[in-house]
Amino acid sequence: MKLWENKFHKGLDERTNDFNSSISFDSRMVQEDIEGSIAHATMLGKIGILKKEEAEEICAELKKIAEEVKSGTLSIDPTCEDIHTFVEGELTNRLGDAGKRLHTARSRNDQVALDIRLYLRNQCDSLEEEIKELVKTLGELALKYKDVVMPGYTHLQRAQPIVFGHHLLAYAEMFLRDIDRIKDTRRRMNVCPLGSGALAGTTYPLDRNLTASLLKFDAPTHNSLDGVSDRDFCLELLSDISICMVHLSRFSEEIILWCSWEFKFIELDDAFSTGSSIMPQKKNPDIAELIRGKAGRVIGDLTGLLATMKGLPLAYNKDMQEDKEPVFDACDTLHMCLTTFIPMIKTMRVLPQNMRKAAAGGFINATDAADYLVEKGMPFRDAYRVVGELVGECVEKGTTLEALPLKNYQAHSELFDEGIYDAISLEKCVNGRTVLGGPAPQNVEKEAKRILAMV
Ligand code: ARG
Repeated sequence: MKLWENKFHKGLDERTNDFNSSISFDSRMVQEDIEGSIAHATMLGKIGILKKEEAEEICAELKKIAEEVKSGTLSIDPTCEDIHTFVEGELTNRLGDAGKRLHTARSRNDQVALDIRLYLRNQCDSLEEEIKELVKTLGELALKYKDVVMPGYTHLQRAQPIVFGHHLLAYAEMFLRDIDRIKDTRRRMNVCPLGSGALAGTTYPLDRNLTASLLKFDAPTHNSLDGVSDRDFCLELLSDISICMVHLSRFSEEIILWCSWEFKFIELDDAFSTGSSIMPQKKNPDIAELIRGKAGRVIGDLTGLLATMKGLPLAYNKDMQEDKEPVFDACDTLHMCLTTFIPMIKTMRVLPQNMRKAAAGGFINATDAADYLVEKGMPFRDAYRVVGELVGECVEKGTTLEALPLKNYQAHSELFDEGIYDAISLEKCVNGRTVLGGPAPQNVEKEAKRILAMV
């Protein structure tokens, strides 16, 4: 029997019943639902809507239900319409009339808006911790690899030399912003809708500040219509998670490239690689590929809920039941991805020789050769042209700027002397980039330490 069935002439069609029900996915909010009910009952007791003993009896029994669900001695009835109905039904079975009084001055509309806020608030906290762990890992790896020279790329073409630690810290910056975004979302999420009722508040003199503070919210919401129909916080968290997944996906893409035979900058540990059923030589970066793939799925969660919300009139509409699966899926996916990504990069084998070889072969010191001429007084544009010609000559001869004899340099400009070889050595090129934000090893060390102190 449904809550509302007594005024209907028929029970809900069985197919419709399953379609309408949300218990298969909202039961994961059971603890939050009970926590909210305890606060509501406590407040009703304080303002005298419930008798003091009755409120205490309700709270004690709700705590028991919470414990029993947690320990597995009470299982959630999958035939209930939703988790709110289950908890209230269970309470009423145990307490009779007292149980029936719990829902005074409350609707499932403000109840669900509360539950999902409580649930996602916890998710924000645990995601933040996990991303911090990733940032910490990156900071430690950056310190370890602060001297490992590699090519920096633009257009996936070798561009200028950097060190591997600097590349890793670029991702640390992204993940720090993700943490900041999640914190910001949590702050806006942290208001209590309980008391908004179905849509128009209630005539009972509720103490909404009390409920809000019992549940550790910063304040109650200020408009009952918005209180029950706002899902911005779901969209914001989905957007934060999507951006974080995009970062993980870009990182995964690089890992996939780096373990290819064409790059061979790193090797993933066997525990994070898979083989092929037919090609015996294969070692595939499936984990990184899956993370890259799952970014698409999470972006789908975000766009799906945006589309669900875009045409909804105020206030609550059942469409909004569709908010939970995408946010839950996005949270679960990010948790899973972080849990596998962190040990994957912790255990990867870095191959500095190969990185250095790639850095030495691609004229990535050409800018530095031009800067050498500038230092000797040549205008940058002219220096750029001279070095361009020199690179052309090297390509033709199959050699590098490092190996080109001095007389060839001097044929292009007499400003060149022996000093050019030192000026274009990879170490010199990297070590000289000490500008704030640059890749010099001393900078990387400083930045890594700064970041490690933040997480
Ligand atoms: N299961 C519903 C949801 O997730 C709970 C709110 C139901 N309210 C209602 N009036 N049918 O949105």
